Amino acid sequence: MSLAKNVRPMNRHRNGRHGAKYTGNQSKRLRPKSKSHPKRGKKSPAGNLKAKAPRWAATGRGTWRKEVQRVLITEEQIEKRIKILARDIERDFHGREMVVVSLLNGTVMFLADLMRHLNLPLRLDFMGVSSYGSGTESGELVFTKELRLDVRGRDVLLIDDILDTGKTLRHVLPKLRALKPRRIKICVLLDKPSRRIENIHADYAGFEIPDDFVVGYGLDFAERYRNLPFVGVLHPHVYKQACKQICRK
Ligand code: IMP
Ligand code: MG
Repeated sequence: MSLAKNVRPMNRHRNGRHGAKYTGNQSKRLRPKSKSHPKRGKKSPAGNLKAKAPRWAATGRGTWRKEVQRVLITEEQIEKRIKILARDIERDFHGREMVVVSLLNGTVMFLADLMRHLNLPLRLDFMGVSSYGSGTESGELVFTKELRLDVRGRDVLLIDDILDTGKTLRHVLPKLRALKPRRIKICVLLDKPSRRIENIHADYAGFEIPDDFVVGYGLDFAERYRNLPFVGVLHPHVYKQACKQICRK
């Protein structure tokens, strides 16, 4: 399966914002240990689980195979990058109790994986924000869930799946600022700078990606594909077909 060459983890030295220098060597992938290898010891339960997990993405036998044009970012790349992001965040929030505010629904996988690597005292809350647009363009933004935790005087880490035009965060930020937190830092898994309309920057960004519509690892098209364990480019025939159906109604 080919990987796009123009996807790169965000790099502190290139854009001057947060994000560790990414060498690809910082973390070692956990592999299932083999009993038969004398130096590797016993099989761990985690290793067994991993070995049994459906690897359809790698085998190409998945039902979504025809709908996802190509894998843009693999599970392994995401796993490595998240560990590095977590270390950067830990360093910046050291000694503070933070409130993680995650935007529903696209952040679910990213949030779960990032949070388990954050070795800091934190509280978690969600804001629901939905865009009622058609196809791949964002439309009118509607808040579907309000924050419940008090963030006044607190350090907030605002998490979103992807920073695209910036319209979503432009609506969310004033709402959050009105609650008088001490500071707000923005963390996104993906950054599509070529589509930016609003002047919004992420303090932490996993990967800078080209102008492709992506799905998987929490990101959806028409609420589907969120469960894919990787980030893939949606085949244009899928959203062109969906647009035709919407336009006919
Ligand atoms: P923005 O408001 O244009 O910055 O877009 C942010 C929101 O649009 C994200 O939280 C996603 O829900 C959605 N979005 C933008 N680009 C994509 C994409 O390529 N795939 C899936 N969702 C996207
Ligand atoms: Mg979203």
